[in-house]
Amino acid sequence: MKAIVLRKHGNVENLQIREIAEPQPGSGEVRVKLQAIGLNYAEIQSRKGLYGWAPKLPYVLGMEGFGQIDAIGEDVENHSVGDHVITVAQFGAYAEKIVVPKTQALPAITYYSVTENVAFAVQYMTAWVGLFEVCRLKPTDTVLIQAAAGGVGTAAVQLAKAFGCRVFGTVGSDHKKTVVENLGIDGVINYRKQDFAAEMRRLNSGNGVDVVLEVVGGEVFRKSLALLNPFGRLVVIGFASLNLKKWNPVSIYRTLRAIPRVNISKMAERSYAVGASHLGYLLKNPKLMQQVWTDLTDFVRKHNIRPVVGHSFKFDQMTAAHKLMESRQSTGKIVVEIDNE
Ligand SMILES: NC(=O)c1ccc[n+]([C@@H]2O[C@H](COP(=O)([O-])OP(=O)(O)OC[C@H]3O[C@@H](n4cnc5c(N)ncnc54)[C@H](OP(=O)(O)O)[C@@H]3O)[C@@H](O)[C@H]2O)c1
Repeated sequence: MKAIVLRKHGNVENLQIREIAEPQPGSGEVRVKLQAIGLNYAEIQSRKGLYGWAPKLPYVLGMEGFGQIDAIGEDVENHSVGDHVITVAQFGAYAEKIVVPKTQALPAITYYSVTENVAFAVQYMTAWVGLFEVCRLKPTDTVLIQAAAGGVGTAAVQLAKAFGCRVFGTVGSDHKKTVVENLGIDGVINYRKQDFAAEMRRLNSGNGVDVVLEVVGGEVFRKSLALLNPFGRLVVIGFASLNLKKWNPVSIYRTLRAIPRVNISKMAERSYAVGASHLGYLLKNPKLMQQVWTDLTDFVRKHNIRPVVGHSFKFDQMTAAHKLMESRQSTGKIVVEIDNE
């Protein structure tokens, strides 16, 4: 089968299509013939060697896929060959087929298209856990979403709006502003034109916000903390600004400065909370993942939420898909479709 193998960390040219042996499902595993792959920012960091959860080189990148089960190992009760499923894993989805534990093959959402299915699991589970489990979102909250036009960002805007919150977001271009305005956001700030923290206060009559979903780190993290109201909650779910060049002392210094840190006595003075979350732990805890999946899918069904698929590429255009995500010009989810007949 064809797979996109990463042999060396670095630029997109290191993503190469290769013939590799088809994986075989072991006990408790299923094999899925993939129709589409969902891109995630962590894969850009993984390609560059900056992702702590990546396996040793060489490996096949890819955290999420969508397709049909075509083989089943022993001890698999609730799946059958032919079932449409969404796969979530730390790696392995940039391929025609992937083997995952049965608990990481989630049932397709029947009324979603192929691209909507593959755009769903990682970004909505991340946004859901950050907002509802860590920040304990309330409908009365005013929420600020960083990188609001991106994959996780658009999901978070939709979920918080549907819950009844007042929702604001930051974006890096006016084109992206339109994308989130179309989701019914209450206010959106182009941080390249305005200081986002000052503008956020202006938009909210001089007040701060109750909840921040933070994905950038560095100055953005520090300014976001300063925006929190008493009893406010901030969740760190990403570090998009971190770009460590391992043998460069200036880069090491900048990276260390950009990693989010808190001062407990300052938190006590203003009474706010800071949390963080990473989906990797959910993969290791199938019971918890099932609970999150059930709560999330019930909610999106009830509120008729559909993923924003911004861009679609073919399998042999993976380098272009990576370049687009790295350029910071993408909106919504980037998906890669596989012609897998
Ligand atoms: N915790 C988890 O389990 C988990 C799971 C999935 C994703 N994430 C994190 O969530 C964030 C969004 O992921 P995504 O896959 O949906 O990507 P994305 O938001 O579609 O793309 C990344 C966006 O981040 C914004 N950004 C802000 N500052 C940046 C910087 N210094 N360098 C690069 N990008 C910057 C850019 O938008 P603007 O220019 O408009 O700001 C860019 O388009 C990432 O930080 C990712 O690591 C975490």
